[in-house]
Amino acid sequence: MKKKLIITAHDFGLCRSVNEGIIYVLESKNNTISEVALLPNAPGSADAARYIRETGFGASLCLNLTTFKPISKVVKTLVGGDGKFLPVDIANWNFSNLDRFDDKEVANEIRAQWDWYLENVGSKPNAIVTRKSESGDPKVLLPLVNLAKSEKVPIRSPFWKWKSNYAAQSYVDQSGVKQTDNVFIGLKNWGGKYGYDLEEHMDILVEDVDLVSGVSELIVFPGFVDEELFKISTLSWQRGQFVQLTKRGKVSEELRSYFDLVNYKSLVGDTKFTKTSTLFRDIVLHQGKPADVPSMIEVNQNDGFVHAYALPAERLENLFLRGESFVVAKHDEKIIGFGSIDCEIRARIHFLSVRKDYSGIGVGTAIMKALLDLARSKGYKKVHTIVESKSTKEIFLKKMGFTEIGFYKDRYALGKDASMWETVIK
Ligand SMILES: CC(C)(COP(=O)(O)OP(=O)(O)OC[C@H]1O[C@@H](n2cnc3c(N)ncnc32)[C@H](O)[C@@H]1OP(=O)(O)O)[C@@H](O)C(=O)NCCC(=O)NCCS
Repeated sequence: MKKKLIITAHDFGLCRSVNEGIIYVLESKNNTISEVALLPNAPGSADAARYIRETGFGASLCLNLTTFKPISKVVKTLVGGDGKFLPVDIANWNFSNLDRFDDKEVANEIRAQWDWYLENVGSKPNAIVTRKSESGDPKVLLPLVNLAKSEKVPIRSPFWKWKSNYAAQSYVDQSGVKQTDNVFIGLKNWGGKYGYDLEEHMDILVEDVDLVSGVSELIVFPGFVDEELFKISTLSWQRGQFVQLTKRGKVSEELRSYFDLVNYKSLVGDTKFTKTSTLFRDIVLHQGKPADVPSMIEVNQNDGFVHAYALPAERLENLFLRGESFVVAKHDEKIIGFGSIDCEIRARIHFLSVRKDYSGIGVGTAIMKALLDLARSKGYKKVHTIVESKSTKEIFLKKMGFTEIGFYKDRYALGKDASMWETVIK
């Protein structure tokens, strides 16, 4: 089954040249953009809103709390001497100015930007997103989630440094607000940061989207370039790439053939209960490689559980040779959790282990989702796993929808039993 992908054109409203670039792509026969993110407080916002109103094209509200002037009146803590938002230094990921924001002022400004959208577009946005991923910070995330919850609209999955912020995502999950499951940036040469050059690296993008569950979002930045853009954005010539790729058609064709293109409306569903959780930044998932084996062993030894036997490196190396799929979770380039699934004859989760100092913040859940996705993509309907009992992993498995289907007395000798668990995947 094809993975669902929202392709969002960012910065609609930024200025005339960007508006024209986005409209050019939207109206091209090769268009693949399924969503546009409309800025409420930029020089071209009014024109962009008019286009959305007149064409009825779906748009999300792109909250902007880092550039141009706020829309609300009481904004003492949000702005500098020039009346504009305090800047964030995205090149060095310095968002410290957000710490100075007063909670009430942030909430009011978010509401004012929402009201601007209603007034100018005439209907609710498909979703709420943020311009520079400021929603990765709890200061912005919490009021944003409140608004999204009361208005029943989805949001972009909170991420920080353009990658996944799993604990913040868990927070959103538990609020009942729908979110995308992962965010990718389709941009060549963006300061060397996590961008996918769609022309050169489509295969990597396809592989990475395959690794995560649910609906993903690919953010693209179409635009023409003019003097005005140079003054207000560091991203200038790069914006031309998506326009050109759309015109040439090959990348559009690939995007259509690999993905089921949807917009944010496809995410809206029922609400769940609310609970707070610790926010943790910068945890990303990757496909595990044989070179990761020593780090995996280290994780296994530090997951807070006394295992019946020590896991030898040769065992993991052999499993790689036999084609087992591994997923690793990294924080600051360090592996802090891993899991694997053997899909040779039936789907069996072999390993799942998270360093104790990173447990309880959603890492295990994220790895498990990726493993179940792998099984799903191979056509399996059931996945099972065997764990040493008694362990907290059994609580975890229950939470993940597994049921206990069997019991091995003394499986590991020395009186150590095991239990067998199974889940049905949809
Ligand atoms: C089990 C394990 C993989 C879970 O990973 P994790 O990243 O800590 O789990 P998450 O943060 O995604 O938690 C998901 C759910 O698991 C359960 N859970 C996780 N840790 C738990 C703990 N210490 N006690 C009770 N429940 C726990 C909770 O239900 C939690 O959901 P909640 O936070 O909404 O209550 C990890 O803790 C681990 O590696 N443990 C040691 C390995 C082990 O127990 N092995 C047994 C023999 S094979």
